Amino acid sequence: MTALPASVEDVAAGLRSVGYLPGDSTALVAYLATALGKPVLVEGPAGVGKTELAKALASFLGRELVRLQCYEGLDEAKALYEWNYRKQLLRIQAEGDDRHWSEVQDDIFGEEFLLARPLLTAISAPEPVVLLIDEIDKTDQEFEAMLLEVLSDFQISIPELGRVDATTRPVVLLPSNNTRELTEALKRRCLYLWLDYPALEHELQIVRLHAPELSETIARKLVELIGMVRELDLKKPPSIAESIDWARALLLLGAQDIDAETFTQTMSVIVKHRTDLDIVAERVGVKLTSLADGKHGSGQPA
Ligand SMILES: Nc1ncnc2c1ncn2[C@@H]1O[C@H](COP(=O)(O)OP(=O)(O)OP(=O)(O)O)[C@@H](O)[C@H]1O
Ligand SMILES: [Mg+2]
Repeated sequence: MTALPASVEDVAAGLRSVGYLPGDSTALVAYLATALGKPVLVEGPAGVGKTELAKALASFLGRELVRLQCYEGLDEAKALYEWNYRKQLLRIQAEGDDRHWSEVQDDIFGEEFLLARPLLTAISAPEPVVLLIDEIDKTDQEFEAMLLEVLSDFQISIPELGRVDATTRPVVLLPSNNTRELTEALKRRCLYLWLDYPALEHELQIVRLHAPELSETIARKLVELIGMVRELDLKKPPSIAESIDWARALLLLGAQDIDAETFTQTMSVIVKHRTDLDIVAERVGVKLTSLADGKHGSGQPA
C-alpha cells in the first residue's frame, strides 16, 4: 500500500500516471476525500468518467477496488452480508439430532457461515480499499438510509453476531446519473463533485491518450465536431466515451480527414437515437459539406 497523497498536485499526477486526466476540481475533491476520509458523491451526464475515476484512484493508491453496482430492488443481503444457508444446513445435518438447538445456533451463526457482500467486505478489509457504490440513484430511499448508517458510523450490526467495526477506512465514491434526487441527508455527509463534458483542450488530451495513433489534426477536428454536436438539442449528447470510440473507429477505417462523407458514414458511433441522427446530419453534416464546397470554390480559379 502506498502512503496517502500529500497534496492536490500529488493526486493529479497520480491519476495521470494511471491514465486518467483529471480536471482541477476532480483532483481537488479526490485529494480532500483521501485526506478527510469523506465519501464523494459524483454526479454528471453518462460517460464523463465517473466510474473510471474510482478505478483510477484505486490503481494509483495501490488499493483494491470493491464495487457495489446498484440497481432497483437492491437489498441488504446483496449489499451487506448474507448467511450461507446451504453451509448452515449441512452443519446441522452433520451434527445429528443429539445436540440442543442453542448449541447448534451458536455454531451456525459464526463468521464461518457469513457471506460478506461489498459493504461488509470494504469496511472489514485488512488494508484500506476504494469502495465504489456505482449508480446510487438507481436504488430506493430505504437503501440510501441504510447506506447512510454505514457511511457515517463505519460499522455494521449483525443481529446474530454483533457489531462489525471498520478495521480500515475506505475511500468511498458514489457516482450518480441523477435519475432521481438524492436525499439531503446523504448529500450532507458527502463531498460533491460535478463532472461535466470537458473543455476542448482537455478532451483532446483524453482522446489522444486513448487513441495515440490518431493524428493531432484529426483528433482536434473530432473534438471540435463533438463540441458542435453537444450544442444541439439532442436526446443523448455524445460523451467522452463516444469521442474515444469515434477516434478508434476513424483509426480502424484509416480516415485521413473528417469530411462530410466520413462524418455521415461514422456518425452512428457518436449519436445513438434515430431522431438525433437526423438532427445531426442536418445541422453538422450539411455544415461540413458547405465548408468543403467553400474551400473548393476559393481554391479553384474560375
Ligand atoms: N478524465 C479522463 N481521463 C481519461 N479517460 C477518461 C476520462 N474521463 C472519461 N474517460 C474515459 O471515458 C470512458 C467513460 O467513462 P466512465 O465509464 O467512467 O463514464 P461514467 O461517467 O461512469 O458513465 P455512466 O454514467 O454511463 O456510467 C472510459 O473509457 C474512460 O476511460
Ligand atoms: Mg459509470
